[in-house]
Amino acid sequence: DAGEVTAGAGATLAAVQAAVRPAGWEVGVDLGARDSATIGGMVATNAGGVNVLRHGPMRQQLLGFEAVRADGSTLRRMPGMAKDNTGYDLGGLLAGSEGTLAVLTRVRLRLVPALVHRAVAVIGLADAAAVVALAGRLRRELGSVLALELFTDDGMGLVMRHAKVSAPFSARRPAYLLVEVGSDAGDPGEELAQALLKPDIDEDAVVMATDDAGRHRLWQLRERHTEAVNAEGVPHKLDVSVPIGRYAELVERAPSAVAAVGANARTICYGHVGDGNVHVNVLGPSPEDQATDDAVLELVLSLGGSVSAEHGIGVAKVDWLVRDRGADAVAAMRAIKEAWDPA
Ligand code: LAC
Ligand code: ZN
Repeated sequence: DAGEVTAGAGATLAAVQAAVRPAGWEVGVDLGARDSATIGGMVATNAGGVNVLRHGPMRQQLLGFEAVRADGSTLRRMPGMAKDNTGYDLGGLLAGSEGTLAVLTRVRLRLVPALVHRAVAVIGLADAAAVVALAGRLRRELGSVLALELFTDDGMGLVMRHAKVSAPFSARRPAYLLVEVGSDAGDPGEELAQALLKPDIDEDAVVMATDDAGRHRLWQLRERHTEAVNAEGVPHKLDVSVPIGRYAELVERAPSAVAAVGANARTICYGHVGDGNVHVNVLGPSPEDQATDDAVLELVLSLGGSVSAEHGIGVAKVDWLVRDRGADAVAAMRAIKEAWDPA
């Protein structure tokens, strides 16, 4: 009843979700790769996913950890209490450190109450700016919003082709908003439906579901983007964030920024419009072509954004880390790395 769970690093998110749900709890982070993503990896990369606007990323779920350091010693802090102000937040430091400081072996996470009543709607709109505007209004008007996701008609076309999912409505539109609402009392679908009854929303381009199968079908349109894009070729994948006020601008400008450095590029954007995260996928240019990535990341920095939203720095974005964070911040990170793992 404490609303906490301890999980081994190798447990998949889906396994932890299945373990806590019968007790009425839910993990605060959810993402499409739930069947293969491990909890330890999710903390080490500070994974975000679809509910960040509501509960924050993995770092905000972390209440305790066990990790093995480079010298073989083990650090452990599993207090089982939310308030623990005893010095530096070492777990918070390990969250997002991508394995550079220690290897997480167990974590303790806070849980959130499971919401039994849920509804999902997909709304077709004229452009990304209309998606961002509607997402903002729904977030303001409805206390029950759990997720706000953007995708485009180009991306939905790929999902329909490769994942064999059919379009939920006949009226296709250039851009779509997926919204999920949840409540533990009453049907949140009614207030969502009311909020969508507006003259600027075409009812032929709205589809809603409250039952499990129907909600799953709508989520597929968004969650199967990654595999659908991969089925088309080897994409350049840029996982970036911008302030919400620049979100539509990034989605609209990314294709021309990419086209300016290479011919035959096809740019597909989708992402988490509730928290500013866009997944820019570019098909066409060869995988080694650095100009494509640079064009997108230049644009992102010019919009005041971040070159890594939820997928991390890895080895591919090391050069961009300095450009994004600055030499002083990277020197401070290097000092921590040297203290923890000088070799
Ligand atoms: C997603 C993964 C790519 O949001 O982060 O689908
Ligand atoms: Zn994502």
